[in-house]
Amino acid sequence: MYNNLKYEVKEGIAYITLNRPKALNALNTETLNELHVAFHDCEKDDAVKVVIVTGEGKAFVAGADIAEMCKLNALEGRAYMYRGHALMNQIESLQKPVIAAVNGFALGGGCELSMACDIRIASEAAVFGQPEVNLGIIPGFGGTQRLPRLVGKGMAKYIIMTAKNIKGPQAKEIGLAEECVAPEELMPFAEKIAKKLMAKAPIAVAQAKVAINTGYDLDMKTASQFEIECMTQCFTSEDKKEGMTAFLEKRDADFMNK
Ligand code: CAA
Repeated sequence: MYNNLKYEVKEGIAYITLNRPKALNALNTETLNELHVAFHDCEKDDAVKVVIVTGEGKAFVAGADIAEMCKLNALEGRAYMYRGHALMNQIESLQKPVIAAVNGFALGGGCELSMACDIRIASEAAVFGQPEVNLGIIPGFGGTQRLPRLVGKGMAKYIIMTAKNIKGPQAKEIGLAEECVAPEELMPFAEKIAKKLMAKAPIAVAQAKVAINTGYDLDMKTASQFEIECMTQCFTSEDKKEGMTAFLEKRDADFMNK
């Protein structure tokens, strides 16, 4: 069904593995479309609780597809960027947690893909970067906006304007990755985090995600109000009843949809 990625669901985890070796998993239109379908499947499949995105081979994703973009005029380029943004927004607003297991090159659109995920686990072999200025362009799948939100405005300018590469350990230091582990530990560690997420109340995890993502771009007063509404959603859930009752009864909670 997919030409450029592998999709597998196992024990509550959907694994989306970019697999386009001839272009180091670069995001051409077909791959963007396949990712859209895969994430749509994750959203609607009740068997999927958490998503892990990773890459096959030495790259996570080496960027948007330069060979494809090279042929585009300005209007076509604009449509391409709309396509990329739509995918990143789809991932960011998925109602399930998404973990990026960054195994290798995460450059340009690859770094942007990792930043649209909720949690980034980097391999020590990972290389992040936004090298677009080398090509006469700028990050176009959200990098100019998501990178400063993660690492601060100064560091984002430094990385984007000098096209500096950031290795896994440094990515963790500056907040571009939440963890950095040895290459052989990458998938076991990502799975450990996925299992930790699956043990929590699903509605609470989803509401925390939407409260943080939406509130981050609002003024404090509106964001606080939004948080209250998200919390109210949690109060309507069976999981709230179960979580608090289990605490008071000194037992483990048994959440719905686990
Ligand atoms: N698009 C298309 N093809 C790509 C690609 C990309 N982003 N990245 C790598 N490839 C292709 C190469 O052209 C090469 O193809 P051939 O074998 O047919 O020549 C193949 O993948 C292997 O690549 P290399 O031989 O270059 O591998 P390497 O190990 O020597 O170097 C690399 C690895 C440092 C990642 C290098 O491939 C590279 O610099 N790639 C481009 C990175 C980049 O500039 N990304 C940003 C793209 S623009 C963007 O993403 C805009 C946006 O925000 C939306």
